[in-house]
Amino acid sequence: MRTQSPPIDPPSDDKRWRIVNATMRRHGYMPRALIETLNSVQQAFGYLDEDALRYVSAALHVPLSKTYGVATFYHFFTLKPGGAHTCVICLGTACYIKGSADILQALSDHFDVKPGQTTADKRLSLMTARCIGSCGLAPAGVMDSVVIPRLTAAEAIAKVEELVKDGHG
Ligand code: FES
Repeated sequence: MRTQSPPIDPPSDDKRWRIVNATMRRHGYMPRALIETLNSVQQAFGYLDEDALRYVSAALHVPLSKTYGVATFYHFFTLKPGGAHTCVICLGTACYIKGSADILQALSDHFDVKPGQTTADKRLSLMTARCIGSCGLAPAGVMDSVVIPRLTAAEAIAKVEELVKDGHG
């Protein structure tokens, strides 16, 4: 049996977390509540940010990489700041040591967008994370729904090029 309260505190004392907690509680904090919970975060806050994804992952015992996967797969979820496609580069320790900051820089230069922001044409949001829970795959990123292991700068650019040129989103 799961406990009836989240195992960790919400990211802030914003009262809207009560709505999110109520959703999770209703589902007994089971992992299958992930989509509905993310939906309730989005309803309450208007978007999903890293703190929210971490919190929901921990409370529902879902790997963070999976939560990122779901959040970037469904178009009705908006990662702040919300371009049509999302590339998340992990800057957690394991990934950082393996050069993820350089990968981020290369993407930022190539697509002319600062980390945490969206390109002028709204096609791409370039985001960072502190760890997506796939340290064995470092340096890792999430491109739309897919966790990409052992990235290089050239590969990251090529994959994002592919994402933004294919029509959906
Ligand atoms: S540090 Fe990047 S996945 Fe953990």
